Amino acid sequence: MFLWRVWVLATLFYIHLSSLKGAVADSVGECQFPRLAEATVDQLQAGLRKGCFDSVDLAYIGRIDEVDSEFGTILELNPQALSIAKQLDRERRRGRTRGPLHGIPVLIKDMIGTNDGMETAAGSWALVGSRVSADSTVAAKLRQNGLIILGKTSLSEWANFRSLNSSNGWSGRGGNTYGAYYPDQDPNGSSSGSAVATDLGLIPFALGTETAGSILLPGDRNNIVGIKPTVGLTSRYMVIPISERQDTVGPLARTVKDAAMLLQAIAGQDPKDNYTMASPFGERLPDYLAACKLSGFQGKRIGIPRNVIDYLGPAGTPITSAFETAVSVISRAGATVVDNANFTAYSSFYDSLNPAIVEAADFTTNIATYLSKLKRNPINILSLEDIRYHTQHNPWEDYPSRDTGIWDQVIALGLNNTSPAFWPLYQETLYFGEEGGLLGALSRNNLDAVILPTLVAYGIPAILGTPVITVPLGAYPDGTPVEHNSRGDLVQRAPGIPFGISFLGPKWSEEQLIGMAYAFEQRTLVRDQLRRYLEACTELEDVI
Ligand SMILES: *[C@@H]1O[C@H](CO)[C@@H](O)[C@H](O)[C@H]1NC(C)=O
Ligand SMILES: *[C@@H]1O[C@H](CO)[C@@H](O)[C@H](O)[C@H]1NC(C)=O
Ligand SMILES: *[C@@H]1O[C@H](CO)[C@@H](O)[C@H](O)[C@H]1NC(C)=O
Ligand SMILES: *[C@@H]1O[C@H](CO)[C@@H](O)[C@H](O)[C@H]1NC(C)=O
Ligand SMILES: *[C@@H]1O[C@H](CO)[C@@H](O)[C@H](O)[C@H]1NC(C)=O
Repeated sequence: MFLWRVWVLATLFYIHLSSLKGAVADSVGECQFPRLAEATVDQLQAGLRKGCFDSVDLAYIGRIDEVDSEFGTILELNPQALSIAKQLDRERRRGRTRGPLHGIPVLIKDMIGTNDGMETAAGSWALVGSRVSADSTVAAKLRQNGLIILGKTSLSEWANFRSLNSSNGWSGRGGNTYGAYYPDQDPNGSSSGSAVATDLGLIPFALGTETAGSILLPGDRNNIVGIKPTVGLTSRYMVIPISERQDTVGPLARTVKDAAMLLQAIAGQDPKDNYTMASPFGERLPDYLAACKLSGFQGKRIGIPRNVIDYLGPAGTPITSAFETAVSVISRAGATVVDNANFTAYSSFYDSLNPAIVEAADFTTNIATYLSKLKRNPINILSLEDIRYHTQHNPWEDYPSRDTGIWDQVIALGLNNTSPAFWPLYQETLYFGEEGGLLGALSRNNLDAVILPTLVAYGIPAILGTPVITVPLGAYPDGTPVEHNSRGDLVQRAPGIPFGISFLGPKWSEEQLIGMAYAFEQRTLVRDQLRRYLEACTELEDVI
């Protein structure tokens, strides 16, 4: 009897122990807690599926609290983020997910409108308190896909379309944003906060906007991937405009796959932005994740516009030597590389004021239209003149130390995109991109794409509205002289500061470009080799 009871107790204890061990193995033993500076969406989804952590954990802001006073990437957190995360966790527990990005947090640039408690203000005090009448289409798509909009990121104020003597990543509302590879690093811009927050692992990825370089350049400087989509692949409805011909919303991410997934979630036609109706895809978008194949270069013809690379000058030597190594990687990966696929009108483009005038004319019209559609406009700002007046009279806008030079010129020009003088100017500008630029180089040489160092890759695609993807390429070596921006408050060049390589193609060629960018990324894995001067320490284990 006694022995029997001992046996029962021992057995029960054993069962208890082993079931405990089983539970531990199920929940923690098999759990992977990826380092947040490197975590991919695949890894985060695996942890969410297994129940190792939930979306409330992912939306926790401990890491932001820890380092963002140093880097200044976030203007405003979403007060609803936690309740949204809880809702998405409930849906997952009930077996329902809204798609492959369900429960993943994302940050969006302060140009992108949300019809909630947050501002949409281009980093400026002039628009604080204004409210859009509806979510931007891209924000609505983020929500439909189950992403948690965690907040709004800092930027070069007005997407770098205000001042001739400000600094990259500075806004009246946010002060400066800094990159993480050198103290006081110039993050470039204008999607500075989106890029640096992604690099630091404060967030898996973020949305930026580009008119001329604003996704590609901060991607380049902050060791991440940026996709500047074809104008019209992603809707600009309720996004603060600069130029209808050039603006586009796109992802900044740590890997090509993550960027491709975020692009998939936001792309598509939208009757509220008629540029999207020119899309050849209709309701059926390409599968951008499936485009991530190691064979992305197989059978491709890729051109090098040498005469554009000349513009990097002598300070670009570390970039050009990393670029030459990249060229041999790309040809070993199965591509035919065609050298001297030059942009024949590049020097005329470089010296011309017309591209800036086209942007200016668009801005005058497009910003007035945007302002007229606000549902709340507390100080009744209706035009560029109003914006300038309020900026010059708000002490937090740091005027005149940071001038309003771009607006002064735009207003003095007296041109908008309905003026008769506009079309001939626009046609001249198009020539720089078409026959004299990317399209001429592609067709004369029968190319699929062109590659360039990202620092010189964005100008021609801006004119054309064509897509570009930047991928990490390298960093300035030890011994690089430290060089400041013209204001003297940011370090533009120094040892360890990253740079990228860009893949350029014709309109709607994102699927092919993603294939090439992925094939390059996987063969080089540059991102993992570069070191930040300061790392955030808060990890998922500290949160759950
Ligand atoms: C960064 O941004 C400016 C535009 O604001 C661009 O002209 C410049 O080439 C970039 N340079 C570096 C080194 O970051
Ligand atoms: C979009 O609509 C405007 C008028 O509302 C028109 O001027 C413009 O040509 C249209 N653009 C496209 C790409 O269809
Ligand atoms: C292309 O540009 C390079 C560099 O400026 C120059 O050396 C070369 O002659 C050009 N080739 C053609 C075909 O124009
Ligand atoms: C654009 O210019 C025309 C005159 O060419 C003017 O009538 C119109 O009000 C202007 N629109 C804006 C938004 O400035
Ligand atoms: C910026 O330009 C304005 C004039 O447009 C000038 O008053 C101001 O001193 C300049 N700031 C700097 C730091 O150069």
